Amino acid sequence: MTVVAIKGQVEAAVKAALTRVLPAELADTDPVVRRSDRADFQANAALAVAKRVGRPPRDIAGDIAGHIDGCTAEVSGPGFVNITVPDQVVWSAVTDRLADARLGVASPCTDERVVVDYSAPNVAKEMHVGHLRSSVIGDALVRVLAHLGADVTRQNHIGDWGTQFGMLIQYLDEHTDVTWRGHGAETMSALDALYKAARAEFEADPAFADRSRTRVVALQAGDEPTVTVWRDLVAESEQAFEAIYARLGILLDDGDFDGESRYNNALPGIVDELLSTGVAVESDGAIVVFIDGVAGPDGDPVPLIVRKKDGGYGYAATDLATIRLRVEEYKADRILYVVDARQALHFTMVFDTARRVGWLPETVHTEHVQFGTVLGKNGRPFKTRSGKAVRLADLLDDAEAAVRTVLQTRDHDFSETELNAIVHAAGTAAIKYADLSNTRTKDYVFDVDQMVATTGNTGVYLQYAYARVRSILRKATGRIAAAGRPAVDATLPLHSAERALALSLDGFEASLRDVADTLEPHRLCGYLYDLATTFTKFYDACPVTSAEGTVRTNRISLCELTGRTLATGLGLLGIDAPERI
Ligand code: ARG
Repeated sequence: MTVVAIKGQVEAAVKAALTRVLPAELADTDPVVRRSDRADFQANAALAVAKRVGRPPRDIAGDIAGHIDGCTAEVSGPGFVNITVPDQVVWSAVTDRLADARLGVASPCTDERVVVDYSAPNVAKEMHVGHLRSSVIGDALVRVLAHLGADVTRQNHIGDWGTQFGMLIQYLDEHTDVTWRGHGAETMSALDALYKAARAEFEADPAFADRSRTRVVALQAGDEPTVTVWRDLVAESEQAFEAIYARLGILLDDGDFDGESRYNNALPGIVDELLSTGVAVESDGAIVVFIDGVAGPDGDPVPLIVRKKDGGYGYAATDLATIRLRVEEYKADRILYVVDARQALHFTMVFDTARRVGWLPETVHTEHVQFGTVLGKNGRPFKTRSGKAVRLADLLDDAEAAVRTVLQTRDHDFSETELNAIVHAAGTAAIKYADLSNTRTKDYVFDVDQMVATTGNTGVYLQYAYARVRSILRKATGRIAAAGRPAVDATLPLHSAERALALSLDGFEASLRDVADTLEPHRLCGYLYDLATTFTKFYDACPVTSAEGTVRTNRISLCELTGRTLATGLGLLGIDAPERI
């Protein structure tokens, strides 16, 4: 079933009016329809075309208003057209959405194949808050794009290759007492400690550093014992990452690993082709690409280093190889890299190089979906007191503890199991929502107490809002359960608070399209927050349980649709909506 949003219907009505009112060459002008405080919508097209038509905007607006069918339209201000939709149209939209499992959301991205590269932690290193951002934002984008019909491939480009493995494996070989396997939830810490010990020895002891380098060569040459240890290190780390994803409710699983090592064999070919096409040149023994307009502070060109002087391949070579695979094998139309803003120059240069050498056709769109830094309360990048990167697992623990404290201040009758489930859902929601609701490209301050607040634009507030809707419905539907879902009576006059809620519900699909276009999940957060506050105003003004007859059933329908929209919206952000909280 296709449900046309009320806003879409209004746009169509204004467009039809424009074709009748404006000269033919201007007839397909954007009607510029927005929600309005004075009426349901306002159309601003008259202001946009007045100059070209050569008439005062108010005159044109009057003509447009006179030609809008099916709604009340009047001119206001310098040339706006205020439009009010008949009550019946509003109720019908509520009916249609309720009858549709997708709540009226179409699938506009059905023809799109999207590859999303996100999370990408490094083997034998603890995941940090930067990986949290990438994981949470990437996952929300994956969910929204897939919901809108796109064919989405998740890629977890973990750092599982490089010279550091020579050092790690050599260290393990020489320190047989070091344990790093089978630490369960603490595996990552054990691996991280191993990494630090190996790095310290590498820096302090040149002979060890030499043996480590020989070990890298052995790894690259496929020396069996060396490769076995490497595989083990990768496998243990992957398990630890998966445990975090499971705890956080991130979709990534073992089928999505797309580590740097996967591209290793493709790298010599990458260099050859870059050289033979003249895109890359040799400079000081290294193979590099110069990009027009990319220069350092001193004005000297900054090249993209594809192969280092010592013959080792850099991060850039691997990323060029990801593009080839994603275009040629995955047939991607859109490739998204959800990575820290500090890597912006890297991606500009990689994309530019790939275009020049012909691996990235015009039809394929690549985007560095960059995000800002997580800051501590002191305004500096978020670190532990001892200056170390904050462990993701600790953040979750802190958020859960804070939620537990909040819940303990209230009376509740939750069983221990239920309480633990709620604490987990709310703790995760707090962290994820705080990350998603901030403008993606901006830095934000990590503040656990603010994240778990039950008021304001937080994930926990939205979970409360949902649980409240469910509780109202449990009370209200007791009496009508036997009769099944009540039908909406579209002939009832609308209360202004019912109208505001129905129009807010009408905007769900637009908010999702907005996220798909801008890749900014905070737009969906803003929408859901607005919906929840509009619901509160409705509930204050319009009693549900104590109302009678069709007034009551119509209000129950609005509650039902609100609950489903909140749960679906939160779900698309990767956030659970418990029935009770
Ligand atoms: N592993 C890298 C890091 O931790 C991020 C990789 C991002 N993805 C990519 N295709 N470059 O910084």
